[in-house]
Formats: sequence, structure tokens, C-alpha cells
Amino acid sequence: MLAYRHAFHAGNHADVLKHLVLAQVLRYMNEKDKPYTLVDTHAGAGGYSLQGRYAHKKDEFETGIRPLWNEASGLPAPLADYVQLVRDFNDGGKLVQYPGSPAIAQRLLRETDRLRLYELHPTDFRILESFLATRPHTQVDMSDGFAAITRELPPPSRRGVLLIDPSYELKTDYGKVVHAVRDALQRFAQCVILVWYPQLQLVEAAQLPKRLTAAAAAAPKGWLNVSLSVAESGPDGFGMTGSGMFVINPPWTLHDDLAQCLPVLVNKLGQYDGARFSIEQQAV
Ligand SMILES: C[S@@+](CC[C@H](N)C(=O)[O-])C[C@H]1O[C@@H](n2cnc3c(N)ncnc32)[C@H](O)[C@@H]1O
Repeated sequence: MLAYRHAFHAGNHADVLKHLVLAQVLRYMNEKDKPYTLVDTHAGAGGYSLQGRYAHKKDEFETGIRPLWNEASGLPAPLADYVQLVRDFNDGGKLVQYPGSPAIAQRLLRETDRLRLYELHPTDFRILESFLATRPHTQVDMSDGFAAITRELPPPSRRGVLLIDPSYELKTDYGKVVHAVRDALQRFAQCVILVWYPQLQLVEAAQLPKRLTAAAAAAPKGWLNVSLSVAESGPDGFGMTGSGMFVINPPWTLHDDLAQCLPVLVNKLGQYDGARFSIEQQAV
């Protein structure tokens, strides 16, 4: 049984980066009428309380969504849009809950778009299933999200987004992510693929962006790699110092949208003087 529960980390700096990028990609997909499919291979519980003992164990959201939530105005438009999604999930009141990727999808997908969600943890699966019970064109599966790619791609409308967001609790996840990207591109080269990755003092983590770059060589619209480093590693060398999103076949607007937002994220979420961001792109 896997021990990872996203409820401990909901709304942290990594969620902010991930969900900012996800929201921008879905907004872009919505510019065309033709329906698309979003496959979320590691979906989590859907949404999270920020009031319970999980979120309060380390209060990670206090250095993630909170500083942006407290910013009444003046955020760049894509960041303001993301914060508004979080506000909508809180009915405009106090910050008491945080939307996971399925909740963001539920808010942004049109009724005709298909949603495919995979979650292995039985408790999170049950919460997720009931959360999305009434959404049309939705399937929630308690099975391995990596294995879902064979089943889900290519999607019927030939428009699709694949979000791969593992916990990397098992070191084998790093290799599985690279394999999943290669497999997905082979089945459906135009797929917009989003891979979240952690910045850790670990060889596998450090090598992942390079391995993804190699895997993305087959993508007709290139790739974009954005990372946000916010903290120093702990005295024992452990701890996540930041994270990144590797986007394959990115919307052509994404680079400039993120270039507006990342300096603000460094300023608001950075926990030391060395906080920084990077955006690399290979456009085809
Ligand atoms: C980082 S969390 C997902 C967060 C979610 N995507 C979000 O943005 O709100 C990773 C989730 O993957 C689940 N998980 C781990 N291995 C899995 C697998 N092979 N297939 C599907 N889910 C898995 C974990 O239980 C955990 O809930």
C-alpha cells in the first residue's frame, strides 16, 4: 500500500506551479469548439480541506497558495485567473479548501469534453468518485494510471491532454514517466503532455528533465520546461527545493504567459535569497 497522501501537501508551491500551467493549457484547449479528452493518470482525491490535521501537519499551503490569495490585485492575468479558480472553489469566502487537478478540470472542461481519472489509493479514489459522480463523460478508475495510456490514447476526437503527476514515492516512477511519455507520443503524437517533477537531491530527479527532453524529440510542437526553485535543501540534504512542469506540444502562448508569472512566484513564494525560476523551450 502506498503511503503518500496529497492532502498533506495540497496548495503548496508545487501545486501552485502545476495548477497554474494546467489551467492555462485547458483555457487554450477551450479556444476551439471541438471536444477533447483530459487523462489525469495520478488524480488524487479531487479537492482538499486546508483545515484538517493533514494540511496542518506542515502548513505547506501557507507558503504556496496563501501569499497569492492575500494579493487582492496586481497579479499577471494568468496568475489572477488561477487564484480566481481557487477562490471559486472556496465560494469566494475564506481560504479553507484547495482544488486538486480534477476540481480544476471540472471547472474548466466543457460539458462535451471527456475526463478520465486514475487513482490507486482506495480512500482518495472513493472521495474522487463521489466528487465527480454527476459530471457527464467522466470515468474514475482505481487502477494504475501509467497503464491507462494504452487504453486512453488516441482519444476519439483526436484532441487530448495527458497530465502525469506521480508522487515519485517509488524511484521506479521516474523511469515509468519517461516510458509513459514515449508510449503516449507513439500512440498520439499531437497529445499535449504535462509532467510534474520534483527538485530533490536525488540522481533520478536531477536526470528526469534531460530524459524528458530526449523523449520529447518526437513531438511535432516541441516542448517547454518551467521550474520554480523556492527553498534550500534541509541539513540532511533531503526535502523538495522546488518543482517543474515539462510540457510537450505546449500551447504557443504558454511561454509568454509563464514569463509574466514566474518572477511574481519567485517573489511571493521564494523562501530564501536564491529562489529562482527557469523557462526553456524548444519550439518546432
Ligand atoms: C501528487 S498526487 C496527485 C495530485 C493531483 N494530480 C492534483 O494535482 O491534485 C499523486 C497521486 O497518485 C496516486 N498514485 C500513486 N501511484 C499511482 C498509480 N500508479 N496510478 C494511479 N495513481 C497513483 C497517489 O495515491 C496520489 O494520490
